Amino acid sequence: MTHDPLVERARAAALQAYAPYSRFSVGCAIESVDGEIAVGANMENACYRLGVCAEIAALTAAQQAFGLDKIARIAVAGGHVGPDGALAGAAPVTPCGGCRQAILEAAHVSGRDLEVVSASGDGGRRTSIAISELIPLGFGPSNLEDAGA
Ligand code: THU
Repeated sequence: MTHDPLVERARAAALQAYAPYSRFSVGCAIESVDGEIAVGANMENACYRLGVCAEIAALTAAQQAFGLDKIARIAVAGGHVGPDGALAGAAPVTPCGGCRQAILEAAHVSGRDLEVVSASGDGGRRTSIAISELIPLGFGPSNLEDAGA
């Protein structure tokens, strides 16, 4: 358990993941500047490469709920679901490279260096890192200004 309600929403979302292949359930909760929360979880597929990460699912939900421009904070948590039905796992889950790129896009839209809280499945450990640190020297929308169009 943590005392950060956003992390608890991410942990709860992980319990709704569809991850029968990896058995690694990830949840992501995104808070708006107005305190609204959108969530998502990973969704795998028998065609393995078509699986969707929790962060992408949550960003899509956030865009629908309040817009990427209003994103203030993101929490991610993941692990396996134990025999008691609770999310377990000791290591904080930091977003994969592709998800960092998607969060960077949201950061650009929001105009904020978004804070990403990574939590362990059991909620016992967490670390908070800005997206600019998670993906330094990232390629973003501003790079396309040099496209000459
Ligand atoms: N996964 C996520 O949902 N987010 C990440 O940032 C890392 C990995 C999912 C993808 C796959 O369904 C499972 O975790 C194992 O890689």
